[in-house]
Amino acid sequence: MDIELSFFLFKRRKGIIKVYNVPRLPYLVNMIKKGDKVVLWKTDGATLVDVDEETKKIPGIGIIDTRRFVGKDWGTEVELGRDKYRLLQPAIKDAPKLIKREAQIVLPRIAVQIAFYCDITCGKRVVEGGAGSGMMSAVLANMVGPEGELVTYELREDFIRTARTNLEKLGAAENWKLVKGDVTKDVKERTVDAFVVDIPEPWQALDMAGEALKNGGFFAGYVPSTNQLERTVKKMRKNGFIDIKSFESLERDMVIGDRGVRPSFDMLGHTGYVAVGRKTH
Ligand SMILES: C[S@@+](CC[C@H](N)C(=O)[O-])C[C@H]1O[C@@H](n2cnc3c(N)ncnc32)[C@H](O)[C@@H]1O
Repeated sequence: MDIELSFFLFKRRKGIIKVYNVPRLPYLVNMIKKGDKVVLWKTDGATLVDVDEETKKIPGIGIIDTRRFVGKDWGTEVELGRDKYRLLQPAIKDAPKLIKREAQIVLPRIAVQIAFYCDITCGKRVVEGGAGSGMMSAVLANMVGPEGELVTYELREDFIRTARTNLEKLGAAENWKLVKGDVTKDVKERTVDAFVVDIPEPWQALDMAGEALKNGGFFAGYVPSTNQLERTVKKMRKNGFIDIKSFESLERDMVIGDRGVRPSFDMLGHTGYVAVGRKTH
C-alpha cells in the first residue's frame, strides 16, 4: 500500500465516528501536490506558478499562498482577487504565454512539425543551434524525453540566461545541455540523430552538421525569409543531403458561433519556413 496516497474515510453513524483506510483511490493520483507546476488559467491569460511553501506576488493577480492548491483536483476553479481561475497542468502548447520572450520564437506547433520531419522521438540525441528564448529547446527536450539528450549551442550570454530561466520555469531542463558556442564550428557531439538550427545563416551550419550527424541523420533549418530558405536548400543539395523537404506552416482557427462557423480574423499570416533533409556519405 502506498502510505502517501492512503486516505481516511470518516463516517458518522449514530454519533460514532468510524474511520476507514482506503488505499490508492485512483482520483487521488490526479490531485495537485507540493512541487507541482500549476497554470492559473482564465479566458484571457495564463500564469505559471510553483506549488511550494512560499507565498508569492504574481503580477496581475496579487499575493497568493500556493499551499491552498495542494490536494485539489486538476481543473478546479479557484477565486484569486476578483477573478476566477482554473488550476491546469502545464502544456507545452501554452509555453509562449508562460515564458519570457526576448528573441523571436519558433511556435511550438512548428517546432513539433520540425521534430516530426526529423523523427525526433524519445531517446534521440539532438543538437540545436540558437537557443534564443528557448521555445524550440523546450519542445525538443520534451520530445527526446529523459532517455534522450538535447544539446543547444548559443552565442550570446543574455540569451543563454533567458533560455535557461525559461526551461527551468517550464520544468524542461532535465535532459538539456546548454553550451556557449558557435553551432557552425564548436559542436563536439558526433553520430547524433538530428541537428536543428534557428540562426540567421543556417547554410553556414551545414558542414558542422555533416560532421556531427550519423549517416541518415536529419538536418532542419528554420528561417524567416524565402531567400534564406533557397540558400539553405541549395547548400544542402551541394553537401549531399537527400530527401529534402521545404515547407511553410500556416494555421487558421475557426470560430464556432451561435449563428454559424467562420474562420478567425486573427490568423498569423507569416511565421517562417523550414528546410529538412537527411545526411548521406
Ligand atoms: C531567433 S533566435 C532562436 C529562437 C529560438 N529558436 C526559440 O524558439 O526561442 C536565434 C538565436 O540564434 C543565436 N545564434 C545566431 N548565430 C548563432 C551561431 N552561429 N551559433 C549559436 N547561436 C547562434 C542568436 O544569438 C539567437 O539567440
